[in-house]
Amino acid sequence: MSRTLVIGANGTVGSELVRLLRAAGHQVVKATSRPVTDPATEVHLNLLTRAGLDTALQGVSKLFLLSPPGHTNQDELLKPVIDVAKAHGVQKVVLMTAMGANADDNAPLRKAERHLEASGLAYNIIRPNWFMQNFNSYWIQGILEHGKIFLPVGKAKGSFIDARDIAAVAARLLGTDEFNQRDFDLTGAVALDHDAVAAILSQATGQTITYQDIPEGDMRAALLQAGLPAAYTDFMMVILGFFKAGYAERTTDAVHMLLGRAPISLEQYAADYRSAWVKA
Ligand SMILES: NC(=O)c1ccc[n+]([C@@H]2O[C@H](COP(=O)([O-])OP(=O)(O)OC[C@H]3O[C@@H](n4cnc5c(N)ncnc54)[C@H](OP(=O)(O)O)[C@@H]3O)[C@@H](O)[C@H]2O)c1
Repeated sequence: MSRTLVIGANGTVGSELVRLLRAAGHQVVKATSRPVTDPATEVHLNLLTRAGLDTALQGVSKLFLLSPPGHTNQDELLKPVIDVAKAHGVQKVVLMTAMGANADDNAPLRKAERHLEASGLAYNIIRPNWFMQNFNSYWIQGILEHGKIFLPVGKAKGSFIDARDIAAVAARLLGTDEFNQRDFDLTGAVALDHDAVAAILSQATGQTITYQDIPEGDMRAALLQAGLPAAYTDFMMVILGFFKAGYAERTTDAVHMLLGRAPISLEQYAADYRSAWVKA
């Protein structure tokens, strides 16, 4: 039976991917940088120190790989995993980066992608756009405390994608060789500005949620205040600038093509995650 290692298995995409793979009967091992509590289903792997890397890849036939947020040297974190996967004869790798990662060949995420492309491994690269789930995680404090989405992106639109769709695509690609050596930009079906997002969240919650365009300096201060490292804060400000410039507006049909259904809408996401914003 094939054994699938999921890196980022306790995260937004990875946890749903683990659920989907297990539901489909696959043997899944969850990588975690924390102490292992269940050795039958988990393995310790720290991408920063490479602790546990060789052990984690032993006996693995399929690998889902991402770089945890908070680090800007994504190539240094991901390349060793790709090398060890190759050494262990892993049959298929699905790497998740981010939409736009391939715009600059020298960007760290793109260097990791190129390393995988040159590895000789069977692979797919998936590049999701901004996650819908950011509204119930990264951006939630402003919503809960002030009824506002605070972002410095003007009226620009994003074709937000539900992380559950990303996980479903990853599960599909791990289960087939039909699309090997291809990369996919993953988006929702429509692009929405943050006024439209706020209106949908208001509708779902019965509360008044609005969008407030804020100066970049305020955003930078908020990210630093939230504990992000300075270098990652700079990275976030750069990609928020790309959003403001319109680079997140594009839509693709990749989710539909790979899953045979439309992407989850923001209305559906808001209904499903309502309890995140509505106090019981
Ligand atoms: N949010 C967005 O809008 C967006 C858009 C496009 C792309 N992305 C990409 O999505 C990725 C993040 O995915 P996500 O949101 O699903 O992740 P997430 O929820 O932030 O979870 C990150 C995972 O990484 C693990 N982790 C943390 N430090 C680690 C380390 N040193 N070694 C090994 N594992 C470690 C954590 O698990 P343990 O604590 O168990 O180790 C956790 O499960 C990033 O690469 C980001 O660039 C995000």
